[in-house]
Amino acid sequence: MTPIIAIANQKGGVGKTTTTNNLGKYLANKGFKVLLIDLDPQGNLSYTFTGKAIADEALILDIYDGKKIPPLNVINNLDLYCANSELTTISERGDNGYFQLKEGIEGIISEYDIVLIDCLPTLSTGLVSALVAATHVLIPAAPNDLSSQGLHDLIGRIQQIQRRMNANLDLLGLILTAVEDNTKSSKETELLIRNTYKNYVFSAKTRKSIDMLQSHNKENNSKDITRIVPKKPISQDFKEFAEEFINRLNLTTHKNIKSVG
Ligand SMILES: Nc1ncnc2c1ncn2[C@@H]1O[C@H](COP(=O)(O)OP(=O)(O)OP(=O)(O)O)[C@@H](O)[C@H]1O
Ligand SMILES: [Mg+2]
Repeated sequence: MTPIIAIANQKGGVGKTTTTNNLGKYLANKGFKVLLIDLDPQGNLSYTFTGKAIADEALILDIYDGKKIPPLNVINNLDLYCANSELTTISERGDNGYFQLKEGIEGIISEYDIVLIDCLPTLSTGLVSALVAATHVLIPAAPNDLSSQGLHDLIGRIQQIQRRMNANLDLLGLILTAVEDNTKSSKETELLIRNTYKNYVFSAKTRKSIDMLQSHNKENNSKDITRIVPKKPISQDFKEFAEEFINRLNLTTHKNIKSVG
């Protein structure tokens, strides 16, 4: 079964899009065939790859609507369905809205080794539809006082969806992002998160780095952060995280073993 990873946290600015973008490119460069889905009506992930403020092709909304449209091919092994502002309308679809993503991607995903869904920063129909479609949830969390407060609510929502709508959903783990090792409050919050969520927290963490902004640039569509600034500490951080991600999922079987090196 193709793993489908919802990258989710209702808190804004915790690194969901940055993590999805870089993980997608890292895995594609390793030879995995990757489908990225932008589920945030703000379309930030789509923008990082297309450079267009308003997406006008390969819209994930069409997949909700049961249309069989192809994704955008970004680079070898990396495809993308884009978000537009009309994605907000799925919250007006009642219960249908919860299941349309799962139904829409069912016929498409067998071509891929992995699907990564960049979720929107609200506990909304869009997020529920991602959690219904997903096999796993990855939670990026920036260890500052504010972002740790919502984790409890998010995990409650995940457990509710496991009980009611998707018994196959697993929590893959929490990845600490934008970590500032030099601040006391960041250290304390990291410790609190590790003590609370134990093995669910990835051993790897990615420190705060201004260089991450470069990975949002269309010019770097083929380069994840480890190829943009290979000598910087953030690259080692990200590599450790990505390899731990691959191990946690046991992502070893390639449908496409061609690597770009
Ligand atoms: N280690 C890191 N991991 C992720 N993001 C980082 C890191 N270091 C710095 N950043 C920066 O933090 C910001 C995170 O924003 P990003 O858009 O990825 O968050 P988000 O959770 O997707 O936000 P939103 O909820 O608005 O969609 C970006 O500007 C990114 O460059
Ligand atoms: Mg985002």
